[in-house]
Amino acid sequence: MSEQVTRSDWDQWWRHAVIYQVYPRSFNDANGDGIGDVRGIIERLDYLKSLSLDAIWISPHYPSPQADTGYDVSDYHDVNPDYGTLADFDELIKGAHERGMKVLIDLVPNHSSDQHEWFQAALAAGPESKERDRYMFRYSEDGAPNNWGSIFGGPAWSPVEPLTGKEEDRNWWYLHLFAPEQPDFNWQNPEVHEFFRDYLRFWLDRGIDGFRVDVAHGLVKAEGLPDDAIGPDRWTVTDQEITEEGPAWDQDGVHDIYREWRSVLDEYGRDRVLVAEAWVGDPKRLADYVREDEMSQAFNFEYLEAGWRPGKMREVIDSTMAENARVGAPVTWVLSNHDVVRHPSRFGFEPGYDTDSGIGFDDPQPDLEIGMKRGKAMSLFTFGLPGSAYLYQGEELGLPEVTDLPDEARQDPTWLRTNHKARGRDGCRVPLPWKADPADTGFGENPWLPQPDYWASYAAETQEDDPDSFLNFYRRMIALRGERDLGSGSFEWIEGAGGDDVLVARNGDTVLVINMGEDEAQLSGLGSVLITSGDVEEANGTVSVPANTAVWLG
Ligand code: NOJ
Ligand code: CA
Repeated sequence: MSEQVTRSDWDQWWRHAVIYQVYPRSFNDANGDGIGDVRGIIERLDYLKSLSLDAIWISPHYPSPQADTGYDVSDYHDVNPDYGTLADFDELIKGAHERGMKVLIDLVPNHSSDQHEWFQAALAAGPESKERDRYMFRYSEDGAPNNWGSIFGGPAWSPVEPLTGKEEDRNWWYLHLFAPEQPDFNWQNPEVHEFFRDYLRFWLDRGIDGFRVDVAHGLVKAEGLPDDAIGPDRWTVTDQEITEEGPAWDQDGVHDIYREWRSVLDEYGRDRVLVAEAWVGDPKRLADYVREDEMSQAFNFEYLEAGWRPGKMREVIDSTMAENARVGAPVTWVLSNHDVVRHPSRFGFEPGYDTDSGIGFDDPQPDLEIGMKRGKAMSLFTFGLPGSAYLYQGEELGLPEVTDLPDEARQDPTWLRTNHKARGRDGCRVPLPWKADPADTGFGENPWLPQPDYWASYAAETQEDDPDSFLNFYRRMIALRGERDLGSGSFEWIEGAGGDDVLVARNGDTVLVINMGEDEAQLSGLGSVLITSGDVEEANGTVSVPANTAVWLG
C-alpha cells in the first residue's frame, strides 16, 4: 500500500495480521453443559494455531446476565462463571502467547448491564445524585425525553419508576441505545473516564494485547440530545432500520476518548491495539478513528456490505485505501462476524438483497450452492488484500447461516423487541460442530442454541484429514498469504484484464482475480495458479477462471 504518512507504529504486527474472532459462548464447550467456555478455547489453541493466525479476538467473556450475549457486562474485571475463572483466562493468554498468537478482548464502554453495581447504586441513590450522573438519566413529563429508538427495536428510553417503585422517580427516564438491560454511560462524567482507564490497565497488566471497542461511534451524544430523523421505532421505518446516523452517533467528542486510551496503551507499547467497531458509512469519517494518536484499526463494514457487486467492491476498496493512507493506517478486511448473516448465505441471494433482519424458516432462503462458491471466492480475494484480515469462528469450516432455528429457541433481544419483525442474529451464533456425531458435536446434548441435523456434516474432525476440505483450503490460503507477505504488500488494479465484472489486482508479485460475472474469464500472461476457490484450467500461459471463482496467480 502506498502510504503517505509515516507513523511511530509503522512496523507493528497488527498492520498485516490475520485475526480470528472467538465468540466464547459458541466456540468450544469443555465440560459439555452446552455453553462454550475458556477451557474450551484452551483445548483448541493448537487448532487455532494451525490456521496461521496472528491473534484471536474474544467477544465478551465477563460476568453478564446475557441480555445481549455478554454485551451487557455486570463486572468488567472478572470472567463469566459459566465460562471459567480469571485463572483460566490467564492460562488462555499464556497458552496463546506460547503459540505466537496475541489476544484481544472486547471492550464494552457505551453501556453496562443494568445489574452492574454502578447502575444498581444509581437506582438506589435517587434523582440528581452523583451515582445517577454516571448514566444518562433525564426528567421528562411529556413521555420520553426525545424520539430516539433502540437499535434492537422499541424506544431508547425506559422509565425509572417501575424499577425502583419510588414516587420521586416519576417522569425520570434512562437512555439505552440497545436493550433496556444495557443503560448508556454518561461520558461527560470524569468517573466514567477513570473507570475505563483502570479497566484498560487491569487487562493490559494481565497480558492482553489489545481491545476491540464495541459501539466506538456511540459513546458521546449530541449536546441537548435533539430528536433524530428516524424516530422511536427504527424497525418499522423502511430501509432505515440499522442506519446509525444522527445525534446519537459519530460525534466529534468520541475522538478525545480514544486519544486518552491511546496514551494509556502507549504506556505498554505501540504493539497494543485498539480496534473500532464503528458503523460509520463515510470512509473519511471512519478513517478519523485510526489517526496516529487514536485507534489502530477500524472494521471495514463498507466492504462487508459491498456484496457481490464488482463496481461497488472496487469503489469501496479504492476509497478505504485512499482514506486510510491519508492517516497512515492499515485497512482491515472482514466478511463475517456475530452480528451479520454468515457470508456464504448472504452471497446466496441476489446482489443487494437485504439480510439485516436475519433469516427465519419462513423467509426466502439462500441458494447455498451458489452462495458457497461465491463465499469461498470472496474469502480468497479478501485474504489476498494488503492490510489486516479478520475471520469469524466457523468461517473456516464453511458454515452457512442457520436459517431454520425454531423461533422459540431465539435469544437475540431483537426478535422480542421488534415484536417478531426481525429474526435477529442467532443464526450466525449457533455453536460450532467439532465432532461428527449429530447427537453431540461437542456441546453435549443441549447446546445453548440448537444445532440443526445437518450441522455435524461440517464437523472440524471430519474436515481435518480431508485435504480438499474447506478447513484445509482456509489453512493453505492463510499460510500462503503469510509466505508471500500479502498482508504487508501493495495494491494496484490491473485494468482491462478480464472485463468489468472480473476484478484483477496485483499485490507484489501475486495477482488476485475474482470473477463476479456470468462468463468464464481468460487471463493470459499474469502467472500460474497458486491457489483457487474452484476449478480453474491452465494451459499455455492462459488461465480460465469460471464464474463465481477466485484465484491467486504468481
Ligand atoms: C455491537 C456488538 O457487536 C453487538 O453484538 C452488540 O449487540 C452491540 N454492539 C451492543 O453492545
Ligand atoms: Ca461449558
